[in-house]
Amino acid sequence: REASDAGMLFRILVVGGISVVSYFTVSFFISSVIPLFLKAGLFGRDINKKGTPNGEEKVPEPLGLVPATVYIMILCVLHLVAFHNGDARLYTAAMACVTFMTLLGFADDVLDLRWRYKLVLPLIASLPLLVNYTGKTTVILPRIIRPFVGWIASHFGGGLVGSVSGRLVDLGLGYYIYMAMLSVFCTNAINIYAGINGLEVGQSVVMAIFVTIHNALNLRSDIPKDDIHLLRVHHAFSLDMMLPFIAVCLGLMYHNWYPSRVFVGDTFCYFAGMTFAMGSILGHYSTTLLLFFVPQIINFVYSLPQLFGILPCPRHRLPKYNVKTARLEGVKTHLNLVNLVLLITGPLHERTLCFLLLVLQAVCCSLALVLRALYLRYFP
Ligand code: UD1
Ligand code: MG
Repeated sequence: REASDAGMLFRILVVGGISVVSYFTVSFFISSVIPLFLKAGLFGRDINKKGTPNGEEKVPEPLGLVPATVYIMILCVLHLVAFHNGDARLYTAAMACVTFMTLLGFADDVLDLRWRYKLVLPLIASLPLLVNYTGKTTVILPRIIRPFVGWIASHFGGGLVGSVSGRLVDLGLGYYIYMAMLSVFCTNAINIYAGINGLEVGQSVVMAIFVTIHNALNLRSDIPKDDIHLLRVHHAFSLDMMLPFIAVCLGLMYHNWYPSRVFVGDTFCYFAGMTFAMGSILGHYSTTLLLFFVPQIINFVYSLPQLFGILPCPRHRLPKYNVKTARLEGVKTHLNLVNLVLLITGPLHERTLCFLLLVLQAVCCSLALVLRALYLRYFP
């Protein structure tokens, strides 16, 4: 145990060191490629500055390409060091998914795809994992729903809920569908909780920090588990993915924070979402991950009438910029969390709004950790 603690510390130091270097690499490379993006016609306009000189400027997009590229390189290097005591093939497959998603995100940015195609892209990008996945397809049933699931299984046969044995339920094929859906959700959830400077990358940083805390808590965990060693391996593995991820995101945030010098693009949103999905599948904490996505889930559910075309959905659902007051105002017919918060608080400056939304994210994630701890305590 002591030897493995020392090994773990060394590993965190190495990954931490790589992360620090990658932060500077990303922020430096973004500055250097900005002219290339503008020359190639890859830019957008800052809609929330319309009517001011800033609103006329070409803002290069999608600069999410830089952190994604650096990140994939890091995943390759970590492969070389063979830190993953887990399944190397799964790790390669997850890496392929992140890479594929970045490619399709870039395609989306360049081609400006319609909403229905955006939904399908992550499904395609998760194929490398789906065809390589030979891991477990069981999930641990939360204690409160065990009797309920048991009842369904005994009345309607196991087919409906998979085969149930005690606290485990084997989802079989359903687990593959679950993994695909998780990729579709994580990527699109970040992409539609967007549109003000710093929000896409900011929310990713906050969530990644909480995933890291969750992983770290489980590394130190003394709770007797079925297989404490495996648990540590999974969480250490996810830490390897999260630390460099936070670093490359911060490198991008440096340029994307208000007033944005660059836009992150769908490339970034898909890349970030896929990294979360893969990390949580390989780290076996996808349910906890969804707890960290609570603001995104609220935003998604609240958006459903527009996403499903029950109400008209304009190309952009951004707040209204008031040139006189230099504040953003909530728009009632744009059903998303950004506008809802503005309607509650009243007009806010763009930077204040982004900060507030990130605080909201952090509060939700903290609550999620506390609730999870309480739940485990009372329903071990
Ligand atoms: C999603 C949202 C859309 C929102 C857009 C903003 C849904 C269904 N779609 O679309 O409502 O308007 O994201 O990202 O909810 N932009 C800014 N300021 C920013 C960031 C982006 O003005 O801080 C604008 C720029 O013009 C940029 C464009 O948004 O070029 C990027 O939009 P894009 O990511 O292509 O939109 P979607 O992801 O399709
Ligand atoms: Mg987008």
